[in-house]
Amino acid sequence: MNAAPEKDEIDLAAQETVREARTRSQPLDDNALDMMFNANRSFNGWKDDPVSDDQLKQIYDLMKQCPTSANCCPLRIKFVRSDAAKEKMGPVVMERNRAKTLQAPVTAILGFDHDFYQHMPKLTPHRPTDIKDRMEQNPDMIPWWANLNGGLQAGYFMMAVRAVGLDVGPMQGVDKPGMDELYWSGTKVKTAFICSIGRGDESTIFKKLPRFDFDEACEVL
Ligand SMILES: Cc1cc2nc3c(=O)[nH]c(=O)nc-3n(C[C@H](O)[C@H](O)[C@H](O)COP(=O)(O)O)c2cc1C
Repeated sequence: MNAAPEKDEIDLAAQETVREARTRSQPLDDNALDMMFNANRSFNGWKDDPVSDDQLKQIYDLMKQCPTSANCCPLRIKFVRSDAAKEKMGPVVMERNRAKTLQAPVTAILGFDHDFYQHMPKLTPHRPTDIKDRMEQNPDMIPWWANLNGGLQAGYFMMAVRAVGLDVGPMQGVDKPGMDELYWSGTKVKTAFICSIGRGDESTIFKKLPRFDFDEACEVL
């Protein structure tokens, strides 16, 4: 059997951070659960309230804390907010999604970096070359890792938006090759979907669609 790895002072400090935070935290109450999950919706129109740089940074700083495989963090984001940036984006959003996207205070373009493994020395300094070597030896794994972990981070991103009191309008109806060329040229980032952010206009919501019940989707073994 392998011996458990030695824990250094930084490991012990990290354990203390969790212990201390747990003394202050509670499960989310019903109001917070409504905001994050039960009552919230995907929005199709937006109130005029602007979204600040500080809010965008807060959203990113929450999202980045959530887990990915080996901490590979492949999500990259362009926030489109200025009139000039919206004008540039308009033609690469599909017609049916265009008006509501351009009306949003901000739209995040979410891309997954298929070169994520080049950054592993920064992200896993204790084992700087492990994942890089693995991806270079098994290139078929790269899209799988980028899409799985990018998708996870995109999901965390939407929940972070809700956690700071804003709303989301996710859309994959965009010209993805066109977006790749416009926003990620010279990189291996591939557009996944876009997500408008702001204070959603309730009058733009339709009836809520059914979800699978627990017994239809889950099995306790
Ligand atoms: C990745 C993704 C892509 C989506 N693409 C579109 C889209 O192109 N156009 C659109 O109007 N809605 C789009 N939606 C919105 C979904 O239809 C919506 O989130 C789903 O029906 C649940 O709606 P609700 O959150 O209001 O219950 C997308 C959602 C996600 C997460």
